[in-house]
Amino acid sequence: MLQYFMPTRVIMGEDSIKKNPSVFSEMGKKALIVTGKSSAKKNGSLDDVIEVLSKNGQSWSIYDKVMSNPTVECVYEGASHARAEEVDYVIGIGGGSPMDAAKAIAMLACQDITEDQLFSGNYGKEVLPMIFVPTTAGTGSEVTSASVLTHHKQKTKIGISSPVLFPDVAFLDAKYMDDLPRDVTVNTVIDALSHSVEGMLSVRANPLTDALASVSIRMIASCFEALKKFDLSRKDRENLLYASTLAGMVISSTGTVAVHAMGYSLTYFKNMDHGRANGVLLAEFLRFIEEHLPDKVEQILSYMGMKNVDEFKDLLDELLGLKEEITLDEINMYTEITMPKHNIKNTIVEPKKEDIFNIYKSSLC
Ligand SMILES: [Fe+2]
Repeated sequence: MLQYFMPTRVIMGEDSIKKNPSVFSEMGKKALIVTGKSSAKKNGSLDDVIEVLSKNGQSWSIYDKVMSNPTVECVYEGASHARAEEVDYVIGIGGGSPMDAAKAIAMLACQDITEDQLFSGNYGKEVLPMIFVPTTAGTGSEVTSASVLTHHKQKTKIGISSPVLFPDVAFLDAKYMDDLPRDVTVNTVIDALSHSVEGMLSVRANPLTDALASVSIRMIASCFEALKKFDLSRKDRENLLYASTLAGMVISSTGTVAVHAMGYSLTYFKNMDHGRANGVLLAEFLRFIEEHLPDKVEQILSYMGMKNVDEFKDLLDELLGLKEEITLDEINMYTEITMPKHNIKNTIVEPKKEDIFNIYKSSLC
């Protein structure tokens, strides 16, 4: 059965926040702005939001303690802040970390959910309305119903997902990405690429998500040369932002597969950036899929104008540079942690334990 659901209103274009003040006034009197420590303050996104709120005569409170790979503790603290400040809605500004944290905060501010229940999947419908402003082109969190959090008790990242976590509105303005450094740009783009590729290799892929993924992959591939030289025009930045949102729309229906499941251990134990973690695994994962479904991999590579997995691996190696090394003991541990993850069963060819081990090994040893 074909099903697609993505209720977020997406508003794209330069100065889209300042051109749409009524979107903010319709949400309520007081906002909780959820962001990280620095980027939103430097790239102008926070200034634009505050200017609109001021002109509208609305008030706000800022929770800016969201770290990279936000923790369970962080979102409970943010939710307490939201309750104490009696806010009406949430504005999430930043990359994937602030946006994912903002979703959990919006829900925990309205529902009494204990830490033990947080990953149960059973939630009520109450949630604060959400406006999201992505300031990287990668996560696609602005159009998904998932919030991925670091769970120290389980020593991994783990997602909570519910239709109530879809943001109400997403503003896409590539001007906030003009000064993004090379590593952040590359890592986030590869995350977006991984979302579209994984979406096509999900058991839940359907013609609609495949259509979105194909456009997204082609748009990202059109920027490969500019990415290699790190000479991106505003138009390239817009294309990458559009592509990452499309990729988010893909995984909002398909979910991610084994690459994300495996990457979480590299992030948790090796402190590897999320997009980079996917990028170092993606080519060898495609090689594994190719053994079973060569036509599928050929189709994905053709969207990037590539003939084989080696060509794709060369590109990723050039973009990612020198790779971290991991030991066989570490691979054994990561494989054990990865196998029970739901993304494994979500993969179009379900990898066995030895497949996961081999993908890690050929990617990083
Ligand atoms: Fe991701």
